[in-house]
Amino acid sequence: MCLLRINMAAPSSRSGLLWTLLSRCRTPGPGRTGTGPGRCLSSLPPPPLPPPGTWSSELSRLPHRDLYRLSVTDPDRFWGSAAADRLCWVEPYQQVRDCELSSGRISWFLGGKLNVSVNCLDVHVEKHPDRVALIWERDEPGTEVKVTYRELLETTCRLANTLKSHGVHKGDTVAIYMPVSPIAVAAMLACARIGAVHTVVFAGFSSEALAGRIQDAQCKAVLTCNQGVRGGRLMDLKSTVDAAVKSCPSVQHVFVSQRTDSPTAMGALDVPLEEVMSSQPAICPAEPLDSEDILFLLYTSGSTGKPKGIVHTQAGYLLYASMTHQLVFDHRDGDVFGCMADIGWITGHSYVVYGPLSNGATSVLFESTPVYPNPGRYWETVQRLRISQFYGAPTALRLLLKYDDSWVKKFDRSSLRTLGSVGEPINHEAWHWFHSVVGEGRCPLVDTWWQTETGGVCIAPRPAEKGAPILPAMAMRPFFGIQPVLMDDKGEPISGVSVGGALCISQPWPGMARSIYGDHQRFVDAYFKPYPGFYFSGDGAYRSEDGYYQITGRMDDVINVSGHRLGTAEIEDALDEHPAVPETAVIGIQHDIKGEVPFAFVVLKDGLHDDPLVILQQLRDLVAAKIAKYAVPEHFLVVKRLPKTRSGKIMRRILRKVAMETTGDLGDVSTLDDPSVVKEIVEAHEQYRKQREEEEEKKK
Ligand code: WTA
Repeated sequence: MCLLRINMAAPSSRSGLLWTLLSRCRTPGPGRTGTGPGRCLSSLPPPPLPPPGTWSSELSRLPHRDLYRLSVTDPDRFWGSAAADRLCWVEPYQQVRDCELSSGRISWFLGGKLNVSVNCLDVHVEKHPDRVALIWERDEPGTEVKVTYRELLETTCRLANTLKSHGVHKGDTVAIYMPVSPIAVAAMLACARIGAVHTVVFAGFSSEALAGRIQDAQCKAVLTCNQGVRGGRLMDLKSTVDAAVKSCPSVQHVFVSQRTDSPTAMGALDVPLEEVMSSQPAICPAEPLDSEDILFLLYTSGSTGKPKGIVHTQAGYLLYASMTHQLVFDHRDGDVFGCMADIGWITGHSYVVYGPLSNGATSVLFESTPVYPNPGRYWETVQRLRISQFYGAPTALRLLLKYDDSWVKKFDRSSLRTLGSVGEPINHEAWHWFHSVVGEGRCPLVDTWWQTETGGVCIAPRPAEKGAPILPAMAMRPFFGIQPVLMDDKGEPISGVSVGGALCISQPWPGMARSIYGDHQRFVDAYFKPYPGFYFSGDGAYRSEDGYYQITGRMDDVINVSGHRLGTAEIEDALDEHPAVPETAVIGIQHDIKGEVPFAFVVLKDGLHDDPLVILQQLRDLVAAKIAKYAVPEHFLVVKRLPKTRSGKIMRRILRKVAMETTGDLGDVSTLDDPSVVKEIVEAHEQYRKQREEEEEKKK
């Protein structure tokens, strides 16, 4: 039975493709067939276009190469057909796209109406209500909780009704400050159901960081848990929210879920979530939403200024998450999809929640850490849950490969079919260990490149021709509709192979971000101005001899700590608040496990009487309080002054070389205001290094 009693009609003019290859609805189910309520477009009679006997019959036979070519030469047809076949619409769209990259105008599936929660829940409940939607792999091993599609729909509806009864309606924004858990997923889907916009804030962010996001998004409500549990440790989330909402007058209610038995002090704004939900109906009509209504905001760091609220909308995002989830990871019915990411990041949005659920998958919610209670945790979980796709971060792999392989080998990994890596460049050692030790050399390993802004995977080794090679530590092939372009210093596209440049994408795709919340100009400036008419990723890339892409890293002042993006400017802003610190410069340096860590150069005020060590500790505390613990610089170097050009710009290049101890080749320093500053800083660093070595020695 489809709970959503809305009529669905065919798009008026296009989408005749029998999308055998791409259709999600391979086996017709009650929700997608027939002419009654709840049916999907794929089941409708073929519309007049395209001409008979052309696309539909040809497409099903197209090899990957031709399908890719079609996706970039005729995106309207490619995406239009995919959207019609894969998504369940309330009203058909009238136009596949209306995009102009240079002005940041990006619209897909115009005129269409649908509901994302219906596509993630109702359509599956109609076909297989008792299929497991989520396996909550709780922190305590062996205590997993399974949630069926029917249960998740009911919880989502109760939560949606709770929100509505507390004045949250279509267009309102809601912050979700919860660890990965079924209730957090239900919270996201409940927002989607009623047309509220969610912004999930990673539950490791400080109260100030949370407050900044709530203020920027003007959230009407916050959902949280009393406590979080990770690696055997408790985190007091409710008190962080309490501190945050003090400076957030827009917040009318704080809904508190009980993750642990620990009692919570409830204040005037607080609503006990489970208690209130239990008296709400388990049915909630889904709001029909425009394709381009906002689905969620997700704050991420840029090279300047405050974190930006990346805007994703309904249909295009869902379609892209859904297709990439199925095709990059070779997801098939009955698989258990294990993405280890937290829902606080885009990976959790697209490959824990929206991608897998739109495909009717069983998605794992991993609450713990890779080393709790021991370094076998991931692989014991793979064995116990029979995980088919394992999608993780290089930082975790680098940590795990330091332990004995027996931690992997003692667990049965025969259920694994695809391995995936995301978030940062994966080094060869980690790639080979993952591929041969974890995957026994028999599972394709996909290094997936993408960003919060791209909505889903853009470059990955799969999909590809049958049997196509996968080269180690390379993202390799663009996904359907993605046309990578490398730009040179003059802003010209670089042709040919064995070349490197700034990674841009030349055509819009449905999953791409639509704006920065409240600041469209910043969106245009950051992504479309550097190379007019192109989307600029901020990353550099190399096109190999074979025409495959390899990501070389960020080209701006964004660093990647354990796969988490951080703007060095954000850390500097936090440090600069200390009254004894007139100036700082933060750069990223390589780290064995975390990939990169922040290194702070700090100038202290003259004539201070305080102990510099005390100040440095205060600075650490400041960053933890203003951003998050993971943002605290690993290194602090007190210097008398920073290397600046005559126009006052800090030469970070020099700082990087000092920190990486590669000062043999400083490059051109002629623009420095006073070149003697370099010697000063090198000496300070040398002293710092010795000091650290001594400390290490003592620890041993
Ligand atoms: C980096 C995470 C190399 C890159 C999905 C990008 C990668 C930033 C890869 C986005 C990869 C992500 N190889 N680098 N496979 N995947 N990155 O927004 O610098 O948290 O710009 O999205 O991570 O991080 P974000």
